Amino acid sequence: MARVYPCGELRSEQIGEEVTVRGWVNNRRDLGGLIFIMLRDRSGMAQIVIDPRDNEAAHTNASEVRNEYVLRITGKVRQRPEGTINDKLPTGQVEIVPTNFEIINPAKPLPFQVNEATAEIDELTRLRYRYLDLRRPYMQQMIMLRHKIVKYMRDYLDSRGFLEIETPILMKSTPEGARDYLVPSRVHPGEFYALPQSPQQLKQLLMIAGFEKYFQIARCFRDEDLRADRQPEFTQLDLEMSFPTQEEILSLMEGLYIGLAEELLPITNKKLMSKPFPRFTYDEAMARYGSDKPDIRFGMELTDLSDLVKDSEFKVFSGAIAGGGQVKGLRLPGCAAYTRRELDGLVDFVKQFKAKGLAWLALDSENGQLVSKSPIAKFFSAEQLTEIAGRFGAETGTGDLLVFVADAPPVVANSLGRLRNEMARRLKLIDDSILAFCWIIDFPLLEWNEDENRWDAVHHPFTAPKPEHIGLLDTDPGAAKANAYDLVCNGYETGGGSIRIHERDVQARMFELMSYTAEQTQERFGHMLNAFEYGAPPHGGIAHGIERTVMIFAGEENIRNVMAFPKTQSASDEMMQAPSPVDAKQLADLHIGLAIVEKDKEKDKSRVS
Ligand code: AMO
Ligand code: AMP
Repeated sequence: MARVYPCGELRSEQIGEEVTVRGWVNNRRDLGGLIFIMLRDRSGMAQIVIDPRDNEAAHTNASEVRNEYVLRITGKVRQRPEGTINDKLPTGQVEIVPTNFEIINPAKPLPFQVNEATAEIDELTRLRYRYLDLRRPYMQQMIMLRHKIVKYMRDYLDSRGFLEIETPILMKSTPEGARDYLVPSRVHPGEFYALPQSPQQLKQLLMIAGFEKYFQIARCFRDEDLRADRQPEFTQLDLEMSFPTQEEILSLMEGLYIGLAEELLPITNKKLMSKPFPRFTYDEAMARYGSDKPDIRFGMELTDLSDLVKDSEFKVFSGAIAGGGQVKGLRLPGCAAYTRRELDGLVDFVKQFKAKGLAWLALDSENGQLVSKSPIAKFFSAEQLTEIAGRFGAETGTGDLLVFVADAPPVVANSLGRLRNEMARRLKLIDDSILAFCWIIDFPLLEWNEDENRWDAVHHPFTAPKPEHIGLLDTDPGAAKANAYDLVCNGYETGGGSIRIHERDVQARMFELMSYTAEQTQERFGHMLNAFEYGAPPHGGIAHGIERTVMIFAGEENIRNVMAFPKTQSASDEMMQAPSPVDAKQLADLHIGLAIVEKDKEKDKSRVS
C-alpha cells in the first residue's frame, strides 16, 4: 500500500517512493501529449505528470479533468527534469508519475477561479460561494492563522491557572453601546432573550462565585453599523480576574501578545516595534495623535500652536481660542508644492470630520522661507512665522507644508488625527513589517450625551472610577478617570477592559448618573446589585477581538477575509440567505404577528451589501 501524503509535503526524500495524494485540481496544462496537473490540498500543491506512453488509462482520465475536480492519485515520485524545477514551490523539486489515476468527483465550471487573485472578483459572489472562496490558499492561511492564535491564547491562559467557562448565548441584554439582537421566547409570550454583546456581567458574576481566573473564547453579537473592522457577530478572548491590579492585567496581556508576535514571526514576518509596549494616557494620546487608537508606526504628531496665535489678527485662530477652542497643526513633509486642487482636497478631507476649514503655510524647499502664496501669512509677523515653523521642527530643504485646524478640542483631534493617518498612507511613511502595540490608559469614566441630556459610560457602566476620583461623581463627573485600558496596534483597538465596580452603592450611583430610574436599574441590573451584597471581590479584566488580532498579525484590512463565514456590510449571510422570512406557523408559535411598515420593506429591497 502506498503511503498517503499531503500534497504540499512531498520532497526530494520521497523520490522513488510510491505515494498516494488526494485533492483538488488547481490547474491543468495539456501540452498535446504530456498533461501536467497541479493537485492542491490544505498543505500545498503537488505536480502530477501524465505521459500517454507510461499509462494510457491515466492519460484518458487526465484528459477529462477540469479545474476543481477531486482526484486520488497513486504513483512514483521522481526528480523533476532539469529546467522544470520550481524553486518557489516547496514541492518544486519533484513530480508524481501516476500508476493509478482516479476521478473521485467532477466539478461544474466555477463561478470564479479559485486559483486567481481576488481583486477582480465581486465580493458578493465570493461570499455566496464561500466554500469555494475558502479553497484559496490565502484564505486557508488566514483560517489556519486564526487557529494558531486561539490555540496560543488558550494554552497561555491555561498554564497560568485560568479556567475556560462557557456562558449562555440566550440571555438578558448587557449594554456595550450597540443594539441587541433579540430572540423571541415561545414559552413566555411577548418576552425576548437578548444575544450577548459580551459576557461582561456573567464574567463578573463568576468572580463573585469565586472562580478567580476566568477566560472564554466568547461569541458576541452587536447590531451596529458595520465597518471594515467590525462584524455583527464576532469573537472575543474574554477574561476576568479577582483581586487584580491594573498592572497585573496589563503585563499578563502584554506577555500574551509579545509571545504571540514572537511565535508567529516566521508566518507573519512582522516584528514588534518595542517591548515593553509604550503607554499613553488617554489625554496624551488625544493631544499627540488626535486619536485614542493611535498608529505609532510613524511620527507626524499634532503640534499645539494655541499660545503662539491666540492674539493673532487671523480671527479664525484667535476667535476659536477665545471661544475655548485650540489651534493645532501637522507638518506634512515635502508637500509645500501641492497644487491648489491638492490643497482643496485636504480641506475637503478634514471637513468630513466637522472641521470648518484647513489653513496652511508652505515652506520653500530651498531656503525654508515661507512660500508667498500662503494665504494666512499676511496675518503674522516674520518672527511669529519663524516661531511657528520652529514649533513644528520644520526644516529647510524639505519643502514642508504646515496645516492647521482651529476648533473645539474634539474636532481638532479627530480631524487632524484622521488627516495624520491619511497623509502617512499617501506619503508612504508606514512600515508594514512592524507591529506597533501600545496601551492607552486612564480613560475618562463618563462622557456627556448632549442629545439625551445624561452621562454615558465611556467603556461600560461596570467600569470603576479611580478610587481617588469617586468623590468627583458628585461634584464633576466628567473629570473622573477610570482604571480602563485599551490595547492598540497599528491604529486598531484590539482589546479593552477595566477594573470594575464591586460595591453596590457605587454601581447604583453610576446608573443614576446615566439617568436610569431606580425601577429601571432594578429591572435591568437588579441581579448585579444583589450579587454585590453577598461578598463581591474586587475584580477586573479585558476582552480582545480575535478577528482584529488576526487582521493585525496578517496585515489584512478587511475583517471578512479573516473569518470563515462573515456577514456582508448589511449584516446578511449571502450563502444561506439569512436573515430570511419564516413561515406563519413558526411566528404563531412565538406569539408574533408582523406589521412591517411599507417603507421599511422598500428599504430592505434596495439594500446593498
Ligand atoms: P469592548 O466593547 O471594548 O469591550 O470589546 C472588546 C474588543 O472586542 C472587539 N470588538 C469587535 N470586533 C469585531 N467586530 C465588532 N463589532 C467588535 N466590537 C468589539 C474589539 C474590542 O477591543 N466587555 C468588554 C470587555 C471588558 O471590559 O472586559 C467589551 O466587550 O477588538
Ligand atoms: P475664511 O476666513 O473662511 O475665508 O478662511 C480662510 C482660510 O482659513 C481658508 O483656507 C480656510 O480653509 C481656513 N479656515 C477656515 N476655518 C478654519 C478653521 N476652523 N481652522 C483652520 N482653518 C480654517
